[in-house]
Amino acid sequence: MSEAPNNHEAPIKTPGQLIAAIIASFAVPIIVIVLLAVYANNWTRIGAGTDSLSEAEVSARIAPLAQVDIRDANAPRVYKTGEEVYKAVCSACHATGAAGAPKFTNSADWAPRIAQGFDTLWHTALTGKGAMPARGGTSPDDYSDYEIARAVVYMANNSGASFAEPPVPSATQAASGTAAAAAPASGATADAGTAAASQAAAALASIASAPATAPGGDATQSADASQAGKALYTQVCQACHAAGVLNAPKFGDKAAWAPRLKDPIDTIYNYALHGKGAMPPKGGSTASDADVKAAVDYMVSAAK
Ligand code: HEC
Ligand code: HEC
Repeated sequence: MSEAPNNHEAPIKTPGQLIAAIIASFAVPIIVIVLLAVYANNWTRIGAGTDSLSEAEVSARIAPLAQVDIRDANAPRVYKTGEEVYKAVCSACHATGAAGAPKFTNSADWAPRIAQGFDTLWHTALTGKGAMPARGGTSPDDYSDYEIARAVVYMANNSGASFAEPPVPSATQAASGTAAAAAPASGATADAGTAAASQAAAALASIASAPATAPGGDATQSADASQAGKALYTQVCQACHAAGVLNAPKFGDKAAWAPRLKDPIDTIYNYALHGKGAMPPKGGSTASDADVKAAVDYMVSAAK
């Protein structure tokens, strides 16, 4: 029976064991509490095995069923740049030359087209030609005539041309959606009336039919030749000749003009009408011969 007292002996026999027991009696509950806290906290945060409470999941669940993109028809329209339109639409074919499209920055592809003048290119872009779909396949609600014009300028100017940026249409015209030149569109009745709309349309078409917007009036445009010449110069020719773009002889620069003025005037007219070097025929416009000659007269008289 010598084992019996052993069974009832206290487990703690030495002072060292006593100290260990005291420390353990504090430490163990604390560790358990800490572990429980971490466990409980993690559970609410993560939700084991699912990310159903993640921010993305939650916002997807509480998102509205349908979203309406409201466009204020009266808000000033923000036009895309030529580059933006090119990248969004035209590059599909023009970047690679797909379907025989003149390739972007390939001046050999573009030179004969650029020679037709900006106006022709613009209208081709609007109406289509061969495998080239009208407006690159977009609708006038997507891209206005003006934005298409900017894309044409962007493409052509990156491929050897130096067309001027087309004039910005007025707000009235923008509201009508399509800027079909010279059409005081029905959509424009919305606000400032048709007078402003046709004015804006005329401004947009100025490169095409510059004399029509000459201050002197349209039907009798050539009656006052010097007026018409000055008007055409202002609207078309000064794009290059005011600053000497592409080495165009500068307006009023006697030294630049002197060697040219040694030619008979008919030769000079001819250059202006049919082009010479980087000078496009009629400056890229479709003005009448008489008005181009009048513009030449106006420029020549300023250089004498
Ligand atoms: C689906 C392909 C395609 C898209 C998209 C496209 N083009 Fe074209 N584009 C062509 C082809 C093909 C030609 C050559 C047509 C020809 O000469 O028969 C061309 C020619 C042109 C020309 C030269 C026209 C001429 O008179 O020589 C211009 C300018 C032009 N495109 C502008 C644009 C603009 C601006 C856009 C974007 C808004 C655009 N294109 C989008 C295929 C495309
Ligand atoms: C795209 C730019 C550009 C536009 C727009 C432009 N010109 Fe020029 N023009 C030139 C350049 C460049 C020359 C020099 C050509 C050369 O000598 O090789 C030039 C030269 C001329 C000359 C001198 C020709 C000579 O050597 O005798 C006349 C005249 C002329 N332009 C008239 C006009 C008229 C008129 C208009 C408007 C209807 C016009 N130009 C619009 C670029 C332009």
